[in-house]
Amino acid sequence: MAVDFRVNGRPVSVDVPNGTRLLWVLRERLQLTGTKYGCGVAQCGACMVHVDGQPTFSCQAPIEMVRGRSVTTIEGLSPDSRHPLQRAWLAERVPQCGYCQSGQIMNAAALLARNPRPTRAEIIEHMSVNICRCGTYQRIVRAIERAVKEG
Ligand code: FES
Ligand code: FES
Repeated sequence: MAVDFRVNGRPVSVDVPNGTRLLWVLRERLQLTGTKYGCGVAQCGACMVHVDGQPTFSCQAPIEMVRGRSVTTIEGLSPDSRHPLQRAWLAERVPQCGYCQSGQIMNAAALLARNPRPTRAEIIEHMSVNICRCGTYQRIVRAIERAVKEG
């Protein structure tokens, strides 16, 4: 049965088997490949998107969960890639291989939406669900602090 929802403000309708994970619908049906597959078991954060503003592991979310809801991916975080976090990420030269970074930014964006002035401890705690095998953690924290400061 078709599932209707919104992605990055656009209405979409997909007909896939119940239980199909949102990640694969985004990547393979909607060609939104900024959202990555890492572990597949909610342990790395590479697949992080927002569902009605809440950070969500898309590798775990069955497609029927998003029926009637609003999904935001890295492609829709800002209309021109100029979200304060995206600018801060560039300024701090955060990415190394880049694989984990869309999930990192989406989780950071969810934090700032809920808490616009997090402490360093709050940033580290919130971001602890996102793994970076390249070890860019210190730059990630600096970029979030820069985004908080520069808006
Ligand atoms: S791929 Fe979803 S948490 Fe790792
Ligand atoms: S930048 Fe390579 S895994 Fe994070």
